[in-house]
Amino acid sequence: MPAHVQHITAYSWPEFQNLPMAQKVRCLAREDGTPFHTLFAQQFDRANLDRLCKLATEIRTIAKSRSGMLFLQSLLSHKRAMLYFTQPSSRTFLSFISACQILGLHTGEVRDTSTSSEFKGESQEDSIRTFSSYFDLIVMRTQEKGLAEHMAWTLSNSERPVPIVNAGSGKDQHPTQALLDIYTLNRSFERRGGLRNRAVMFVGDLARGRTVRSLSSLLLNYENIEQIFVAPDGLQIGQDVIDNLAARGARWTVSSNMREHLPAVDAIYMTRIQDEWDSKQGESACIDTSAFKIGAEEMRLCKPDAILMHPLPRRDEIATEVDRDPRAMYWRQMRNGMWMRAALIASTFDCATRIDEFYRENL
Ligand code: NCD
Repeated sequence: MPAHVQHITAYSWPEFQNLPMAQKVRCLAREDGTPFHTLFAQQFDRANLDRLCKLATEIRTIAKSRSGMLFLQSLLSHKRAMLYFTQPSSRTFLSFISACQILGLHTGEVRDTSTSSEFKGESQEDSIRTFSSYFDLIVMRTQEKGLAEHMAWTLSNSERPVPIVNAGSGKDQHPTQALLDIYTLNRSFERRGGLRNRAVMFVGDLARGRTVRSLSSLLLNYENIEQIFVAPDGLQIGQDVIDNLAARGARWTVSSNMREHLPAVDAIYMTRIQDEWDSKQGESACIDTSAFKIGAEEMRLCKPDAILMHPLPRRDEIATEVDRDPRAMYWRQMRNGMWMRAALIASTFDCATRIDEFYRENL
């Protein structure tokens, strides 16, 4: 039995659920330190992140030629992936499908539980066990915090412990988005001293946006990064994120004044208002968000080499006139997601060495 399965099955679900994060992370790691199930941003240390960024770049380079693409498509053509997306998604869903196609995996999908047996009253546990009978990887997005974790525990305790990738859970975690954000930051700064000694500003609905929470955690792996959280009252970042930064000795600022910080920051990470989480109708509509938007005028205040990111979808927090600005990174960021997700899947199935070798021999 692989070590990670042994580790998880040592705990009952309530025990596992209540473990401190560091211990959960140890349970989920394989012998080489890479995650088996990908559930939390905290599972990635600097060595893992460097490996994945390198792998993503190797894959995208190899994929440029037909012979390279044929090699990549041969790697996992004996595997199948299930995309279980019960929450709306465009980019994450399509980039995972594309990443699977790049590596030759066949895919199946459930996006609407009214067309699955869950509609007949089947539990989510039984649904996931059903998927694991037919597929070798389950990528899931749900509104429920902790569901991916529970499913990972359930499968690790079954005869088919197939890996789970969390493609967004509740308001809490979006680890693969954070990976592609890190890849984008690394690529943007690689010829300018790398991702260190930088100020990264997060703007928007930081209380309910899961991408910021996951990225904030990954940034702790990089030297001297100041994190600036800018949000309207009521939508500020959670205290748990701040406590985590404090515990790790990181620098941070909490503010409601975006313009004041624009001239000093190296990266701006915009987010939309997540009104699908409103507890009463019109709750978000009452919040004045006008000072948390970026247009050409705000871009004039930014450093000439700053970058502007967004996990997308956007609403009006970035004006479309900004799309032509060379500092607008969100379209490239989205494409980086496909390569990074391919790297994560390749790594989950231990293909990294073969990709490295192909890259060294042919490029
Ligand atoms: C994000 C999400 O789902 O959390 N989207 C994405 O995956 N790129 C951000 C959002 O919905 O605002």
